[in-house]
Amino acid sequence: MAIFNLSHSALSLDQLFKPSSPALVGTDIGSSSVKMVELVKLGKGQFRLLRYAIEPLPQAALVDGDIANLDMVITALRQCHKKLGSNIKNLALALPIANIITKTVIIPSTDSQNELDAEVERAAHEYIPFSIDEVNLDYQVLGSAQNHTDDIEIFIAATRRDHVDDLVAVVEGAGLKPIIIEIDQHVNRIAYELIEAALPNHGRNLNIAIAHIGASAMTVQFFRDGQLLNSLDNPIGGSHLSGLISKTYGLSYTEAEQAKRKRKGLPENYINDVLQPFMDGVLNELERSISYLYSNTSTQNIDRIILTGGCASLEGLGQYIAEHTGISTAIGNPFRDMKSSKYIDTQKLLIDAPLLITACGLALRGFDA
Ligand SMILES: Nc1ncnc2c1ncn2[C@@H]1O[C@H](COP(=O)(O)OP(=O)(O)OP(=O)(O)O)[C@@H](O)[C@H]1O
Ligand SMILES: [Mg+2]
Repeated sequence: MAIFNLSHSALSLDQLFKPSSPALVGTDIGSSSVKMVELVKLGKGQFRLLRYAIEPLPQAALVDGDIANLDMVITALRQCHKKLGSNIKNLALALPIANIITKTVIIPSTDSQNELDAEVERAAHEYIPFSIDEVNLDYQVLGSAQNHTDDIEIFIAATRRDHVDDLVAVVEGAGLKPIIIEIDQHVNRIAYELIEAALPNHGRNLNIAIAHIGASAMTVQFFRDGQLLNSLDNPIGGSHLSGLISKTYGLSYTEAEQAKRKRKGLPENYINDVLQPFMDGVLNELERSISYLYSNTSTQNIDRIILTGGCASLEGLGQYIAEHTGISTAIGNPFRDMKSSKYIDTQKLLIDAPLLITACGLALRGFDA
């Protein structure tokens, strides 16, 4: 199985990673904030959360997932690392979802790795709208194709090289070192393993949907026994709700963000006129993803929905989704079974946890070797 670590990267960032390297700070640059997580390994599969930090990013810093203003991102990275208070400068990072083109394709089954690579490259050529020389490509075998036992289903992920170059530039510009660059979807799978531990019977024999709802997008990933069944991206996120609040009530974007989180200073009609349509939008996209899964795979039921990303903390969203889908819904907390340093405010961590999942998954990558 190919690992989603951009191993086909011309930069070969992975090669810089040595088993003897010190721990890495998991760093997630999202469209609304930079998040850093530092873990310590206590024993096999046991970690302690040592530190974390969140630094807001101005709206103009990332546009459509692209780093649009390098200086803004450099400043936020520097600030975030300062807040973190760690002396570890080695970072594990993820490319934002918007920078990654994903496609599930069906190709003939083969035992030869070379043939598989060639088939994937041919399929990528067909589906990825850039020259193959301009992209970093990776893939994962999902399993046998439905109704075609001689074919296999492949999940392809590709990113333009200049996205990787920009990421390296901002990290180095902040005086930090990029050691690992992953794709977002894979990191969430690593962190999923932590969430899985909280499920009945460790999630065994259950079909799980993880809806990761950030500021600009929602990614829905379906898993069974740790295997990714499918991954779909939807263009809805918390920034849409903040934008709507700002427009409806004449608030600045920052004021709207604060009002949304604290549910303070908003008129009575907020719930019906603004929040409800947003929650409906999330529900519709989620149901569409589930229908897609049912029509395109043999999976015909979902046992549990887990919400992650900043919007998972939106009051009432989990309950709304559970009521309307009839599927048991929970909020994902990657730190649930982890001890944390005594300096961490546990109440605050409970609210921040779902949006730290990517940074947490990245921090875990430091212990892979
Ligand atoms: N406590 C909260 N209540 C409601 N919404 C919240 C809360 N905390 C964060 N959010 C919202 O979650 C979003 C940020 O989530 P997250 O940090 O996962 O996104 P991101 O990584 O910055 O964005 P993306 O991954 O889409 O580029 C913002 O829209 C923010 O307003
Ligand atoms: Mg994000």
